[in-house]
Amino acid sequence: TETTHMPPLSLYLAAPRGFCAGVDRAIKIVEMAIEKWGPPVYVRHEIVHNKFVVDSLKEKGAVFVEELEDCPDDRPVIFSAHGVPKAVPAEAAQREMVYVDATCPLVSKVHIEAERHHAAGLQMIMIGHAGHPETIGTMGQLPEGEVLLVEKPEDVAGLEVRDPERLAFITQTTLSVDDTVEVVAALRARFPSIVGPHKEDICYATTNRQAAVKAISSNIDALLVIGAPNSSNSKRLVEVGKANGCAYSQLVQRADDIDWRALKGITSIGITAGASAPEVLVNEVIDAFRARFDVTVELVETAQENVEFKVPRVLRDLA
Ligand code: F3S
Repeated sequence: TETTHMPPLSLYLAAPRGFCAGVDRAIKIVEMAIEKWGPPVYVRHEIVHNKFVVDSLKEKGAVFVEELEDCPDDRPVIFSAHGVPKAVPAEAAQREMVYVDATCPLVSKVHIEAERHHAAGLQMIMIGHAGHPETIGTMGQLPEGEVLLVEKPEDVAGLEVRDPERLAFITQTTLSVDDTVEVVAALRARFPSIVGPHKEDICYATTNRQAAVKAISSNIDALLVIGAPNSSNSKRLVEVGKANGCAYSQLVQRADDIDWRALKGITSIGITAGASAPEVLVNEVIDAFRARFDVTVELVETAQENVEFKVPRVLRDLA
């Protein structure tokens, strides 16, 4: 058969990978809202950072816009899983719009932390990526200028704080676990009394996906992370692969993006997917390898997940 002529390839499939509970819930919210109110249902920002997911929801009747001002008053609007500044639901309420907030409960938890510290008189520092919608949403829980942003340990020295004794920090949920340890250390070194979360605010899904990549990175020739170029947690998985011994670590959106020439001669590959990447795309990539190699798949499972979040009450009667 043809198989005998194909080169052997050990394919290490990381687990957990792909959809997290927050993404799963956000997609369900859009689908259920279309079911409840009929199309079109507006969605402010990509519901989750994945073109495939966004395109399939568009087909069902979702309309994606960047700002609330692009939505009519008389159609329902959904806010993405990344979270939104307080000004957004406030504007929707003022325009008497029907809105459903698909912010991941683990992001909302960080919002509440920020408010609690602020109410206690502490100035907030956020560790996150400038311009990412989650960072914008979390910083937007407090009045403009109240949250200071740091991205790297080097940023800590330049912080101008009101009172070094009255500080707290929060983090984006999709950061690199290892890099964040360093930023927190820099904060604690400069501000010994800074208050922070028990670990960081990095969520279980981010932590587990990074740990699974770590477990395979040192014995593979290449790593492919299935995810979107604007997906923070996917980009971090590529970095984790590189930092842990896999020099060829690449983000691909789907099988078409694979650079076969670069992979010529490999005998092992690792595959994972970011929290917003659907499993169909993982299967598509595996099939593309099966067409070119004699593939043996090995699942490398470093944790089991059983997290599930309920949809908001307004949609629950549909379930
Ligand atoms: Fe929520 Fe973490 Fe997913 S914050 S949306 S569970 S990556």
